[in-house]
This record gives sequence, C-alpha cells and structure tokens, in this order.
Amino acid sequence: MTTETYTLITGASSGFGKSLALECASRKMNLILVALPGPELKELADSIRMRYGVKAMAVEKDLSTEEGCYSLHSEVIKQNLRVNILINNAGVGSTFYFYEGGADFFEKQVKLNVLATTLLTRLFLPLLEHHHQSYILNVSSLSCFFHLPRKSVYGSTKTYIYYLSRTLKKELRPHGVSVSVICPGGMNTNAVVTQVNQSGTWFARHSAMEPDVVAAIAISGMLSKKEVIIPGKLNKLYKMLDYVVPSSVKDMVQQYQMKKLKRSDVL
Ligand SMILES: NC(=O)c1ccc[n+]([C@@H]2O[C@H](COP(=O)([O-])OP(=O)(O)OC[C@H]3O[C@@H](n4cnc5c(N)ncnc54)[C@H](OP(=O)(O)O)[C@@H]3O)[C@@H](O)[C@H]2O)c1
Repeated sequence: MTTETYTLITGASSGFGKSLALECASRKMNLILVALPGPELKELADSIRMRYGVKAMAVEKDLSTEEGCYSLHSEVIKQNLRVNILINNAGVGSTFYFYEGGADFFEKQVKLNVLATTLLTRLFLPLLEHHHQSYILNVSSLSCFFHLPRKSVYGSTKTYIYYLSRTLKKELRPHGVSVSVICPGGMNTNAVVTQVNQSGTWFARHSAMEPDVVAAIAISGMLSKKEVIIPGKLNKLYKMLDYVVPSSVKDMVQQYQMKKLKRSDVL
C-alpha cells in the first residue's frame, strides 16, 4: 500500500485555490485539485508536476451538487489516495442587493459555499482520522464578522463556515484533526473581484491583497494549527475596530454608504 499523503483542494483551477495549490506544491505536498470541468485544471496539474516534482491530479466535479461531492469522495476511495489535508476553498461570491439576486443563484451559492463544505468535511473525516495528525482549512471571509448590505447571502454562508470550523476545532482535536478557518478581506483573484476592490471604499482599495501572499499565510497558519487566520494588518485592524465602534455609528456609516450606492446606481 502506498504511504504517500495528499492535500485535496476544492476550487483549485483559478483564484485563491490556485494560489493555495502552488503554495502547497512548493512545500512538496502531493495534490488532488478539484474544480468544474475545463482545461485550466489539467494544465495546472501538469505544470505543478513538472515544476515541483510532486504528484498532482485533476478531478473535475461540480461541487454545487450533492452527487458531485459524493462522487469526488468515491473516486478518492477507489484510487486509495490517503488524504491528510482537506482545503474547502470553492465558493461563489456576490455583491448585490438581495432583491437583485435570483432564487436559483442563491440556491447554488448556498449549496457550494455551505453544503459542499459540510458534506466533504464529513465524508473525508474517516480518511483524515487515519493519520496521526491531519488538517482541515476552511475558507470563510472577513465579511462573516459584519452585516454588510449587498452581501446578505454570501456573508451568511461565510458565517456558517466560521461557526462550523470553530466548533469542529474543539470536537475534532481529540481525533488528531486540526481545523483552521481563514477570513480574508478582498483578494485580487479575478477580474470581477479586482474591479469591485478597486472601485470600492478607501478601505477596500487599500486592504485588498494578492492571493499568493494570502495563500502563504493560510498554509503556515493551518500547519501551526491556528484556529482563526486573518491575513493583513488592515483587515485585523478593521475587525478590532468593530469591537470598539458603537453599533449606532456603524449603522450610520452603512446607511450613508447605501444612499451613496443608490445614487451611483441611478447615475
Ligand atoms: N476574492 C476575494 O476577495 C475573497 C475574499 C474572501 C474570501 N474569498 C473566498 O475565497 C474562495 C475562493 O474565491 P476566489 O475569489 O478565488 O474565487 P474564483 O476566482 O471565482 O475561483 C473559484 C474557484 O472555485 C471553482 N468553482 C466554482 N464553482 C464550482 C463548482 N460548482 N464546483 C467546483 N468548483 C467550482 C472555480 O473553478 P472553475 O473556474 O473551473 O469553474 C475556481 O477554481 C471562495 O470561497 C471565496 O468566498 C474570496
């Protein structure tokens, strides 16, 4: 039986997931990379194998469906791959008002961000428990700490991930499974998000980070068994300010920003 271990990363074909894959490969981890069908995933696996000399396989699955999650698990079991690190990164973001989003979009967002993370964590738990020490890294968002207009469903999914991770950290410690959650602020992962970051508030423009930098912080934090990872000084400061600024002042700022947004929607 093979003694090689694997790190499984969901949403690995682009954005933050790709940065996590490159960071793990540079640390000589073998990889199982998962994303929707498309050439980018296979190309990434090929280039990682060549550049880092590690094993890297591409598994195409739609994780917004329950079948996708179950069939990923069956494939890993069938190939007898020993997963000792699970990184639940796949997620879909959004920045619009609740009434602007369709029911079908929200259904997909909740299924990918919430259900897939829950199912995969449960399904892969027996494999993780096989090892003396194993790790789960869940990707939440800084938005999970705030109640931001235009982030209603997205922020709620990330609050779920945060709660789940912190609870599992306690439950799974005796089983040798360390659980970490990362809460990044804005990252320039793709053209849409970069545009949102660049055209946003002073904070959004100045706090946005490059995904490669965040990935290095994420993997170091996970391996040192950090419970909550918040990358970037400005993001840490923002979260701290939330504790000290009275809710009435925060409400006023949010109302002002919403009015400003409504005016610019009309323009
Ligand atoms: N970007 C930010 O500012 C930011 C901030 C905080 C947290 N986050 C979180 O970080 C994570 C990654 O975000 P990102 O900005 O890197 O997103 P992204 O650029 O849109 O990349 C998402 C990745 O997930 C994959 N994916 C999408 N739908 C999938 C599905 N149904 N099944 C399997 N894979 C799927 C995509 O694969 P394909 O392209 O092949 O479809 C892609 O590899 C998300 O959980 C997000 O919420 C992002």
